[in-house]
Amino acid sequence: MASIEIARQAGACYGVERALKMALEAAATPKQPVHTLGPLIHNPSVVSDLAARGVASAETPAEAERGTLVIRAHGVTPAVVADAEERGLTVIDATCPYVKRVHRAAARLSEDGYQVVVVGECGHPEVVGILGHAGENAVVVSDADDVARNAYAERVGVVVQTTQTAATLSAVVGALAVRVRELKVVNTICEATAERQDAAAELAGRADVMIVIGGRSSGNTRRLAEICQSRCPRTHHIEGADEIESSWLSGASLIGITAGASTPAQQIERTRERVEALMDA
Ligand code: F3S
Repeated sequence: MASIEIARQAGACYGVERALKMALEAAATPKQPVHTLGPLIHNPSVVSDLAARGVASAETPAEAERGTLVIRAHGVTPAVVADAEERGLTVIDATCPYVKRVHRAAARLSEDGYQVVVVGECGHPEVVGILGHAGENAVVVSDADDVARNAYAERVGVVVQTTQTAATLSAVVGALAVRVRELKVVNTICEATAERQDAAAELAGRADVMIVIGGRSSGNTRRLAEICQSRCPRTHHIEGADEIESSWLSGASLIGITAGASTPAQQIERTRERVEALMDA
């Protein structure tokens, strides 16, 4: 009889699960409309489930018009919160506490007279939110090659987008260190992404078949699938449990399951149930 094992870290992280819970709680007392500022999670089935429970997505506070506005885990600039409040919206701030930590670090560095460098992806919503706390002369640097494109003050303070890798941070810090007189680094990387990759790699190294759940356009899910594929050739990347075919499981003793960051726990459970049902058939 084959066994099923879910990677010890898989699917939506603490911050995303928390934001989902806060949005659903807001919708459970529907005295007024509930909107999230942008899709809460990049997962079409979760977004449509939220819509069915009365939680719609608005691109701007103006679009929400009235009612409750949920700020997603990525966080926003203080100006966006002020705009929502001025419009009379009730703001529920579901910014991940680890992202809040980046906001606080950036604000403190700026107050202490450092020019803030944000290591991250230019234009990403989390980075846009961090910039709003980082002072007017803050800049975004995506990698070590990007460092030479800016001019810097004598004192520079570094914070990092939570999903960046330690390798990128240390390469940027190395390139900056020779350009400025004083460099202060606050490592604000969240370990959730690296932990999921390590757990997927460990399980894929033992499993006969790996199932990776998550959007085909989701960069972090595709990366998980690549990691699994390199250790377990019978890796399948699916978006939903009903895609699984019984032939995938034939002869397998251990079936591993993992999931990208936009996959809530329920979808992992549904996948486990589907695998069990196919094994029993
Ligand atoms: Fe928060 Fe880390 Fe997730 S910063 S939103 S727990 S990836």
